[in-house]
Amino acid sequence: MDHLGVKTEIDRLVNELNHHNQLYYIQNNPIISDIEFDQLLKKLEQLEKEHPEYASENSPTKRVGGDLTKKFTAVAHRLPMLSLSNTYSEEEIEEWENRIKKSIDEEISYVCELKYDGVAIGIRYENGAMTAAVTRGDGEKGELVTTNVRTIRTIPLQLQNDFPSDFEIRGEIFMPHEQFEALNQEREEAGEALYANPRNTASGTLKSLDSKVVADRKLDCYLYGLYGLSDLQAGHFESVLKAKEWGFRIPPPEKRFIEKTSSIQGIMEFIHYWNEARNALPFDIDGIVIKVNSYEQQRKLGFTAKSPRWAIAYKFKTSQVETVLESVSYQVGRTGAITPVANLNPVQLGGTTVKRASLHNADQIEKLDLHLGDFVQVEKGGEIIPKIVGVNLGKRTSMEKVMFIDQCPECQSNLVRKEGEAQHYCPNETACPPQVKGKIAHFISRKAMNIDGIGEETIEVLFEKELIKDISDLYRLTFDQLVDLERMGEKSANNMLKGIEASKSIPFERVLFGLGIRFVGETVAKKLAQSFQNMDALQAASYDELIDVEEIGEKIAISVQLYFQDSANLALILRLKEVGLMFESVKKEQVSSVLLGKVLVVSGTFETFSRDEIKELIERNGGKVGSSVSSKTHYLIAGANMGPAKLKTATNLGVVIISEDEFIKLIS
Ligand code: IVH
Repeated sequence: MDHLGVKTEIDRLVNELNHHNQLYYIQNNPIISDIEFDQLLKKLEQLEKEHPEYASENSPTKRVGGDLTKKFTAVAHRLPMLSLSNTYSEEEIEEWENRIKKSIDEEISYVCELKYDGVAIGIRYENGAMTAAVTRGDGEKGELVTTNVRTIRTIPLQLQNDFPSDFEIRGEIFMPHEQFEALNQEREEAGEALYANPRNTASGTLKSLDSKVVADRKLDCYLYGLYGLSDLQAGHFESVLKAKEWGFRIPPPEKRFIEKTSSIQGIMEFIHYWNEARNALPFDIDGIVIKVNSYEQQRKLGFTAKSPRWAIAYKFKTSQVETVLESVSYQVGRTGAITPVANLNPVQLGGTTVKRASLHNADQIEKLDLHLGDFVQVEKGGEIIPKIVGVNLGKRTSMEKVMFIDQCPECQSNLVRKEGEAQHYCPNETACPPQVKGKIAHFISRKAMNIDGIGEETIEVLFEKELIKDISDLYRLTFDQLVDLERMGEKSANNMLKGIEASKSIPFERVLFGLGIRFVGETVAKKLAQSFQNMDALQAASYDELIDVEEIGEKIAISVQLYFQDSANLALILRLKEVGLMFESVKKEQVSSVLLGKVLVVSGTFETFSRDEIKELIERNGGKVGSSVSSKTHYLIAGANMGPAKLKTATNLGVVIISEDEFIKLIS
């Protein structure tokens, strides 16, 4: 293909993929299968790789994230991002409506919308292409998070039809319940602290420095406001509908996510409807927003210092209910963490039957001074799992105070609680059944070794029959052992063995994640694998070298060192090495050899790249990353807040000290 041919083919694929994205995400009506879509995407990826000069920033391939995200820059909003005045009282909504009617002596239409509980975002489109996405920030200035927003598949990168040439659309980015729960489950399996609620998680995710993380987390978005249009529709409702034609996924009127009405009765009916129906939504809303529809009337009504007079939010009260605490049970997680759970007399709350509530830890039980048989208040707020927020002392009859257990309910080992930690742990890692089974389940899970054909039930059976006691035993299983198991058969046995064999080529970072070292989740495993490249180097790493890695703090460093101090873990690693698992990173593709033979040390924090990104760039350009400054060091790349000791050593040894900009020049 000649150059013109390549460019035409890239443009054609971009258009075709955008069209299918639009059918899939906006219209809910795909006409090709996921596989066909992936094939087109792969074709485009390949062409863009061969001809990066024709790859556009808004290519659908950018949806998968992973390119180096720069630190966010603060930018001023062209129009301030205001907040809404809000109320919990229907009366005040009526008063607001009366005020509007008094100041505007005309027919008035209102638009009722959901108040999405997420993070506000403003996205600019120039000539149909997304050019900037900015968070709300302080309302005047926000952070430029375009690279991350590009990974959100329900937000179009390229518009269609007769879109305006330059405008901004605002909306809310949020995390659906399903994503939030899956993420927390993964975190629980990794022994990491759970996220409190979808809103904070969405906000944290949007500000992640790694756009791959954002892509994986599958954020979602609804858009609810257009700004800077010169060719205005009559009103807000009409503009939002128009935006659908340009390719935006707008709140669907047929699901009553947005509705036009001309009366206070219509507004109230909308509020009452969603006060019930919100419990069945797959994401959180915290209220209803009511806006005057006509732009002309909005202009007449104007603003107070903080918010528009033409809009108001009605906020829902969090649902609370009282019920009886019947018992407390204790769950043992993969890492041995003990979680107390309150078993309640089943009660209706926010559309679901609540039977259990999380109690978090011993301190929480103590704080509530729980007694069995207590009447407790249960609340379902932003969190998915309901929690106990109080006890009705007036109704207490029981003398039986809830006492936290001191032995593991599964293996009767004495529990331990480390200083400064809230959680109790069962220390019997190698023989406590839920810990052993949990570790195996984690190891084979999709994000770790991704071994097909083994489910939780199989693990249960293999464990019961004493065929596996730890993850290394998986690699010793034979066809004869498997085929006789209940509900197994030849085909499943073969599939399982095939899956186990295939896992031997899973990259080091995922093997590391699969080991289930406390606090070493997916991201941390990736960072550690990137920095140390192989298991021996990680094992030999000092505490200082560990905390020198980006995002690795004291807690993780100590946990990694403790892991390698345990002889049982070392023996396990040895067995896994023997069966041929990957304990070394595969080298990244080289882009140049300008740094060949050079050792560079990176220290401090940087403007354009993260520390890990700089290290990756060093290696991709042929250089070596040194962990500390020595006579072998050629360059020290000095960022902000660098320790004075390092600087002094470098100066004494005559090491060349360069800035981030000088480094960028060096490699480009
Ligand atoms: S309109 C000038 N509509 O609520 C008014 N906001 O307190 C601009 N929000 O920062 C906002 N759903 O993050 C509007 N349907 C909706 C909304 C909504 C959620 C959030 C938004 C805003 C905050 C206002």
